Amino acid sequence: MYGSQRCSLSKETTSRRSFLKLASAAALAGMQPGAMAVDPQRRQNGDGDEGGRRTLELIEVKPALFRPTAHGATIQWITNREVDMKVFVGARRRQLAQVYRERTKGPAAFEIDGFEPGESYFVQTSYRDARTRHWTDSRIHQVRTAPPPGTPFQVALLADSHFERVRRFHQDVVNFRATRTAAIRSLVDFAIFLGDEALVHYIDDDAAAMTPHMARVRWRDWRRTCVDLLESTPSFMVLGNHEGEAGYYRDFRGDDNDRDAVPLLRWGTAARKQYFLNPNHETYPEGGENAGWVDAGPRSDREEIMRANSSPLENYYAWTWGDALFVVLDVNRYTRLGQSTPTDVNQWTLGSDQLRWFERTLAGSSAKWKIVIAHHVLGGYKYDLQGYDYDLSYVYGRGGARYAYVGEQAEVTRLMKKYGAQFFLYGHDHVFAHQQTEGIHYICCGRTTFIQDEWWRTPGWIEAYGSAAARHPNDFYGALGYVRLTVSPASVRVEYLRTAKDRNGAENVDTPVGGVAYCFELTEDGRIVT
Ligand SMILES: [Fe+2]
Ligand SMILES: [Fe+2]
Repeated sequence: MYGSQRCSLSKETTSRRSFLKLASAAALAGMQPGAMAVDPQRRQNGDGDEGGRRTLELIEVKPALFRPTAHGATIQWITNREVDMKVFVGARRRQLAQVYRERTKGPAAFEIDGFEPGESYFVQTSYRDARTRHWTDSRIHQVRTAPPPGTPFQVALLADSHFERVRRFHQDVVNFRATRTAAIRSLVDFAIFLGDEALVHYIDDDAAAMTPHMARVRWRDWRRTCVDLLESTPSFMVLGNHEGEAGYYRDFRGDDNDRDAVPLLRWGTAARKQYFLNPNHETYPEGGENAGWVDAGPRSDREEIMRANSSPLENYYAWTWGDALFVVLDVNRYTRLGQSTPTDVNQWTLGSDQLRWFERTLAGSSAKWKIVIAHHVLGGYKYDLQGYDYDLSYVYGRGGARYAYVGEQAEVTRLMKKYGAQFFLYGHDHVFAHQQTEGIHYICCGRTTFIQDEWWRTPGWIEAYGSAAARHPNDFYGALGYVRLTVSPASVRVEYLRTAKDRNGAENVDTPVGGVAYCFELTEDGRIVT
């Protein structure tokens, strides 16, 4: 069982085989006797087909899994032309039944339903150009529904690929793929991206060159790149500053305040909602954003873009899985709406609606473990983004537990303490770090693509995380990888799994690729086992 394993810093601790032993093989509820089995002669396209020109002409983005529930998940795809799409599901790999067949063009989705909580099931899609006869099959993927309390499960957290920026560096793209592959092999129940993924906004973007189309292309290309993970593992997205969906980017002017503003927040929201199906307020009993957001950005756009930038925004939400409540927060949208970037740590805010929902959600949950996730803290240090100087033009939200009581993060910490939440997980700082304050574990979830080791020597960085030279457990770990949580009734184990090498050799750890760079286990009575 997951919960009985001790931390090991040299090898992966959970094998695919041990996970499979845990998976139940219950039958698909509601399946008709004699349901159509998958034809073994159909072509298997696997991942390799994604790069094929013919596929890209036909399918804009391949089917991907989102919104996992206790009974299934939602599978979504977008086609460029008329495509016949089939979905097959079943409780056994070799006994799938067709549950969907439609001719679709543009975005389409199908909700897989009918399984019991904690069941494993298998999913395969098959498509053809409506003008042809030959079907092309995806691989068969194993998925699991939300288990009841008492059932162990695993989760992968991947942070800050900055894909649009790193796609020009071959090694960074290879690293990103290696991390996704490792997460897929872990057979986690779901994956959470910590934000700064598609990069609708980046520091050197020229506001005059930004368009709604550019935002869509960045999300589309990110999703195509991540198809291996997204088609096999239901995924969630935490919104980062570089998603462009920040209040301070509602009237985006880039670095030049003389330019006409462009509605980057709106374009980023519309593009993200097209290519990534986060939960909305109705997906889970815990709800999420549905607060009547009004688009007051500059200019007007086509109706579908204006409509997309309205509630439900799918930017904050929560769900329960086994013994854990997961709460995803959006720290950007309500901060400095229509103004410049934050100039004071006290300006970061969840906004009143989100803050009230956050307290309601924590208060209403009886889950043993409560895990809060955001792109970064609501406050952080007072330095510039690299930690060299005090910078009053953009305080950057960096740091962890050291800033638990700075700005509105103090209210988040207070509510977490009041309602017994144990973890605050975040990205943004591009390292792995573990700090704690008063029983709350602040964990920065590393990075998937490359390392910025110059940051480690700056005053801000040393204030936030201590000295790299000290190398004690409260320091940070510059290594590429992902965080894996193993949640059981008795404990939560946190591992940082190294998956790749930085192109400049900038790591500050010597754990081999494939090894566990850092691990600890928090027990239900509050003890830490390393
Ligand atoms: Fe980032
Ligand atoms: Fe960030």
